[in-house]
Amino acid sequence: MRRVITFPLPCGGAGYCGGCAVRVLSGMLSEPTREESLTKAFKQGYRLACQARILGDVEVELIKVAPMATVSGVMPEIPLDPVIAKFRNGDMALTRALRRPSISFESLGFRENGSLLGLAIDLGTTNISGALLDLESGETLVEGFVRNPQISKGADIITRLEFALEGELEELKSLAISGIEELAYKLSEASGVGVEEISSVAIVGNSVMHAFLLGLDVETLAKAPFRPSIKHWTSGPLSEIGFQKLGDAWALIPPPLEGFVGSDALADLITLELLNVRRPSLLIDLGTNSEVLLLTEEKILATSAPAGSAFEMNVPSGVGGVRGGITRVRMRDGVFEIEVQGEPLGFTGSGLISAIAEMLRNGVISHNGRIVEGEDIEVTRGPLGPIKLTQLDIREVQKSVAAVYSAWRILLEKFSLETTELDAIYMAGTFGSNVDPEDAIQIGLLPDTDPNRVVSIGNAALSGAKVLLLNKKSREIANKIISEVIHVDLASEPSFKEEFVRGTFLQRR
Ligand code: FES
Repeated sequence: MRRVITFPLPCGGAGYCGGCAVRVLSGMLSEPTREESLTKAFKQGYRLACQARILGDVEVELIKVAPMATVSGVMPEIPLDPVIAKFRNGDMALTRALRRPSISFESLGFRENGSLLGLAIDLGTTNISGALLDLESGETLVEGFVRNPQISKGADIITRLEFALEGELEELKSLAISGIEELAYKLSEASGVGVEEISSVAIVGNSVMHAFLLGLDVETLAKAPFRPSIKHWTSGPLSEIGFQKLGDAWALIPPPLEGFVGSDALADLITLELLNVRRPSLLIDLGTNSEVLLLTEEKILATSAPAGSAFEMNVPSGVGGVRGGITRVRMRDGVFEIEVQGEPLGFTGSGLISAIAEMLRNGVISHNGRIVEGEDIEVTRGPLGPIKLTQLDIREVQKSVAAVYSAWRILLEKFSLETTELDAIYMAGTFGSNVDPEDAIQIGLLPDTDPNRVVSIGNAALSGAKVLLLNKKSREIANKIISEVIHVDLASEPSFKEEFVRGTFLQRR
């Protein structure tokens, strides 16, 4: 008998959330993929329905995995030793803490009747993602995201920096706070607890988001050599920086690494470290500000690439990651086939990359990005009219690809490494994790390698923020990572311009 069983696919089948776990009772499945082997579900003996292929008759038991990870990524296993909220009247205030080089956990007092709820936040340029944690059991109760309200002041960090320098830093700070509080409220409501019960909050983000949140002077980030405002851990009650609903919660805010490479990249690295990944490998977190890190036995090279917002939504045909966003495009006999949930409205970032890659394969656009026939290309029709890939879409993606390409090229050159020597390329971030590796390789966004070496790890920054709350010793791991990192300022590299120009060509490399 043939029966179609529908699975929940919280991460869309990218293979990092473990939400589609099954227990195999009999029969054979294909070898686990790299994504699958990194998940907790796999380590507990389950297989992932979105990754495994059936090799004959198979009997499986569907596992009801409690709250699904929807916005975070692969989660390493760590012993539970949580940071529990802890302050009493008279404890060190955050405003004073900002002027201190470091505060140890031991210096924090226990709060009377403190609850055991923690909130992990990844403060992104476009989205703010969060996870509400039960610190007693280590379970994630609920996850979600909101748009960063700072978008009203500019889609990218450069525009927002200019805004801050014009005297509007306070406004950016209060927008960040309102976004985090809105998310906290949303997550609390979804899990039936009060916002005021959240006692510990770990917040990671890029260097600019970090400075805005803490209301720090951004002068040093606005001009070469682009240094973060502070480089030490900060912690204290959130009321001290203007939070209201979360004012009583204790904040733990790791330092940015260097330049625009923030504590979100540090959190990515914490996750990878705890997953014991092999080196050398690349870690790429794609976003408006993309971080590219090369992990070698000796050191970690880190840089950031201003990829712009083409990957996220800011192109004429982009709609972002919404229902109706086309996620994949293929051509068969000259006809476009699309993957989309619901009626098509436009392209997601991964759909845009997929469309461009497929048109390159089929000679519809050339390697210099020009549409061969000169006209915008109609891919499909939606309820609002034809959906076209335009020349402007392609040009914007070319610039984003060039930024990321030049970053990994320059880092590999520094250690004289060939792409063939990389054990794996870890794709972090919700967008990066959903890009088809074949498509990304086709347009030169990623090195030309075996697509099986490209491993999606989801929002590993949010996972790293969770780790910081769940185990105090993770801070030691973080400090060890910080000591290994060497920052590379792309703009001051002699080969940058040449690599950038080469990167605008859409081809395998
Ligand atoms: S849907 Fe299979 S791991 Fe996320």
